Amino acid sequence: MVDMKVNLSGIELDNPIIPASGTFNFGEEFNEFYDINILGSFSFKGTTREPRFGNPTPRIAECTQGMINSVGLQNPGIDKVISEELPKLRKFFHKPLVANISGFSIEEYVHCCEKIDKEDQVGIIEVNISCPNVHNGGMAFGVDPKNAYDVTKAVKEVTSKPVYIKLSPNVTDIVSIAKACEDGGADGISMINTLLGMKIDLKTRKPVIANKMGGFSGPAILPVAVRMVYQVYDAVKLPIMGMGGVSTAEDVIEMMLAGATAVQVGAQNLVDPFACKKIIEDLPRVMDKYGINSLSEIIGGAH
Ligand code: SIN
Repeated sequence: MVDMKVNLSGIELDNPIIPASGTFNFGEEFNEFYDINILGSFSFKGTTREPRFGNPTPRIAECTQGMINSVGLQNPGIDKVISEELPKLRKFFHKPLVANISGFSIEEYVHCCEKIDKEDQVGIIEVNISCPNVHNGGMAFGVDPKNAYDVTKAVKEVTSKPVYIKLSPNVTDIVSIAKACEDGGADGISMINTLLGMKIDLKTRKPVIANKMGGFSGPAILPVAVRMVYQVYDAVKLPIMGMGGVSTAEDVIEMMLAGATAVQVGAQNLVDPFACKKIIEDLPRVMDKYGINSLSEIIGGAH
């Protein structure tokens, strides 16, 4: 019998599989397909201080081996998440959650993190400094080491739970950003968010996405994500939630060998709502195939 348990900042997960923020909403729709308590955890939709309607449509474009999104952080706002979404969620999901917090200023990150930190079911706070789809916020914090440091430090001052900073791949040196987060007191790193991309409609000769550009995700970005996780694992002492193009149990093993302790699955949930269930069910077979008894033993094994 193989052991799929991993320990993420003191939280024991039954397995490393965590649906990525923005691809699983607040869990309710997916719980209609299967009992989502089989997951390691899940990361809920990026939540901001105010409710957000998101960007104009079209905001999704299918591409070869992936998709572009420019959702624009649509969410009900932190107060409604706490008063409506979390009480609902508590009834069908019984494990510690990853709370994804997004924002447009340090004050906003602090405000939301301080509030969500008080929620019993939140196990980890994932601070998203990497959304490529909004102006004057999001990714602006994740492309500059000083800004990344400042957000991390400010959030750590008002929280008691582990704080993971979600990094953008749209940088020349992701290691310097990860190090800045470590210096700021981060407990872990989540990586990678989407790659800024664009698709043009040949008939209209215009960008497909109303906002012109968006975040590219899906199987095509796996090698980029694996490379970045590998680099960051070498440079910092923090646990990593690895993500980017993961769609099979084999991809999970690869991501963990690069250095991830847990693995988030994003775009694949939109292709197949059973994706995470299938990966969890397939992991023992793949572990067996590659002679792996315990997943926690392979973390960083490629180094
Ligand atoms: C979005 O809501 O635009 C996507 C969130 C993200 O990429 O961080």
